[in-house]
Amino acid sequence: MRCFSTVTLMGVLGSAVAQNMSVCDKYTTALLKENNATNQYTLLTLLVNTVVIGNYTQPNMNAVPGILTPGKFNGKDVELLPYFDGSLLSSNRGGDSGVAINFLDDGGAAPLKENKPANGKDSQQYKLLTHLYQFFGKLLGCSTYGTDGFPKYSGHDMASAHAFMDLDPAELGYFIAQVGLAATSFGVSTEDVTAVAAALNKLFGYRCSPPTVVIPEMGPSLNSICQNEECPLDPMPTCAAYPANGEVEEPKTATMSMNGTTSVTMMPTSTTTGVVEFTGAAGSVGVGVGAVVGALALGLAAL
Ligand code: HEM
Ligand SMILES: *[C@@H]1O[C@H](CO)[C@@H](O)[C@H](O)[C@H]1NC(C)=O
Ligand SMILES: *[C@@H]1O[C@H](CO)[C@@H](O)[C@H](O)[C@H]1NC(C)=O
Ligand SMILES: *[C@@H]1O[C@H](CO)[C@@H](O)[C@H](O)[C@H]1NC(C)=O
Ligand SMILES: *[C@@H]1O[C@H](CO)[C@@H](O)[C@H](O)[C@H]1NC(C)=O
Repeated sequence: MRCFSTVTLMGVLGSAVAQNMSVCDKYTTALLKENNATNQYTLLTLLVNTVVIGNYTQPNMNAVPGILTPGKFNGKDVELLPYFDGSLLSSNRGGDSGVAINFLDDGGAAPLKENKPANGKDSQQYKLLTHLYQFFGKLLGCSTYGTDGFPKYSGHDMASAHAFMDLDPAELGYFIAQVGLAATSFGVSTEDVTAVAAALNKLFGYRCSPPTVVIPEMGPSLNSICQNEECPLDPMPTCAAYPANGEVEEPKTATMSMNGTTSVTMMPTSTTTGVVEFTGAAGSVGVGVGAVVGALALGLAAL
């Protein structure tokens, strides 16, 4: 199936407004100077690590709670940590139902604060974090994606990866809001963040979305991450392409003890209320970030 909307989306994501460079290349140049594979991968590492554990680098433009910290989205309480620490039977390992996996099994937050994905290279944590660097690197148009210093994405399609999570609009919105806050914390413009957030919502925020190309070498893939019944139905729905016609059940709580694995303590480093403080930042920056958060919240409602 040809999908023109994907081409347009990738255009928005890949190219910064009024510049002939992708968002990835533009901010690699701005923040790390030399626009090569090493630095592009470092940019994605900084961004994704901040999305996951909250802001940990200095200086920064704003606080980021991070996806592991409970928060609110559009007035609804959101808590994503149970999907990552093995509390829920929500991971897809090919069976008919979800299994519990601890994705914080290789150091948790500590290596992330050292700009690493994990302490070692053979863990759930390493795999998830590196897959996120690669996937978001392609989404943001990194020009060195797939070359020596920037490995290609080697994970599953988004619908399968999130198939047993039953994620709803607030959970997806909170995740995307953290991506936006992490980006602005590094100085990404409101305009670029709004474009990225809108594209993420459109690609992943609907139920039963038709197959589209996100990772070119994977071909068309199913991309709905928001699969709960509260998620808006895609304008061109293909529910039959999804397991059980796109109907998912709430993941059950894992009852097994986790005593075989390293226990991880996630220390929230910033406010859990989602209230952003602007310590030491210029007034105009605060206004910009406020506008972005507003746009992120509105974006979901409007799309
Ligand atoms: C814009 C939205 C999102 C994007 C682009 C995204 C992207 C990804 C990617 C690329 C992977 C790696 C898949 C693989 O290795 O095969 C992944 C895995 C995962 N995501 Fe998401 N994600 C999003 C939203 C969410 C949300 C809202 C949650 C809520 C808890 C979530 C939880 C997870 C978990 C637990 C995994 C590990 C799955 C596994 O390996 O079985 N994601 N995601
Ligand atoms: C802009 O991008 C196009 C297509 O990638 C390229 O052909 C052109 O040389 C670029 N222009 C500048 C000024 O970089
Ligand atoms: C990219 O540039 C940095 C210096 O900013 C350098 O340390 C690194 O080795 C370069 N990477 C590649 C792949 O050339
Ligand atoms: C996070 O950012 C806020 C705002 O700049 C800052 O006050 C706080 O110290 C940062 N936290 C860490 C752990 O760097
Ligand atoms: C967990 O603890 C229980 C009870 O102490 C023990 O029987 C079981 O073997 C332990 N499991 C692992 C994987 O260590």
